[in-house]
Amino acid sequence: MSSGRFITLEGGEGAGKSSNLQWLAEQLRVKGHRVVVTREPGGTVLAERIREVLLHPGDEPMADDTELLLVFAARAQHLEALIRPALARGDWVLCDRFIDATWAYQGAGRGLDAGAIARLEQLVLRDTHPDMTILFDVPVEVGMARAGERGSLDRIEQEDQAFFERIRACYRQRAHQQAERFRVVDAALTLEQVRAQLRPLLEEMDQWP
Ligand SMILES: Nc1ncnc2c1ncn2[C@@H]1O[C@H](COP(=O)(O)OP(=O)(O)OP(=O)(O)O)[C@@H](O)[C@H]1O
Ligand SMILES: [Mg+2]
Repeated sequence: MSSGRFITLEGGEGAGKSSNLQWLAEQLRVKGHRVVVTREPGGTVLAERIREVLLHPGDEPMADDTELLLVFAARAQHLEALIRPALARGDWVLCDRFIDATWAYQGAGRGLDAGAIARLEQLVLRDTHPDMTILFDVPVEVGMARAGERGSLDRIEQEDQAFFERIRACYRQRAHQQAERFRVVDAALTLEQVRAQLRPLLEEMDQWP
């Protein structure tokens, strides 16, 4: 059986990742693929418990290194319990945020050491890397205005504008540097216009061996 494909969706708050995840999954299912839809941090029962700690830790301030290790702890569990078994079965995995979010949020956002992130990436990902990463790129104010309509903010969403500007810049830089893996979508447009940009990507996936 051929191995499945691993596609990740990235981008800042309110960019439209979640809004397009199920739609992308449906398009792929119509083509006959078995698709697993998942997210980070989370995706398994244990990893979702780690997500809860990350987003709602309670009164004690969370150290930056704690945040970094929890993100990778959740990812290790997600890879081992869900992503690798799904790919091995030949399923396609569509994941809302993955490793690039760590480079953007913990790396550029929090300013954590790139060497430490690179070592954890190697330790936890091993050979499991996304085949394609779709970056939903949107100006910070636009994304925040959309996300703000959802109501109460979690711990990360409470950061200031400069934090999110660093995240956006990091994502765009990574997309530029790793152009063979990344596809950038202008996510400031209407949902219909965003999907018009996703259709050619689905056709590109059709060409994969
Ligand atoms: N292209 C669009 N135009 C206008 N509104 C949009 C568009 N895409 C998504 N939205 C709306 O913006 C809000 C945020 O979208 P969504 O939850 O998909 O973003 P997200 O990238 O998953 O954000 P987060 O990182 O915070 O989970 C939702 O209310 C959604 O309906
Ligand atoms: Mg979302």
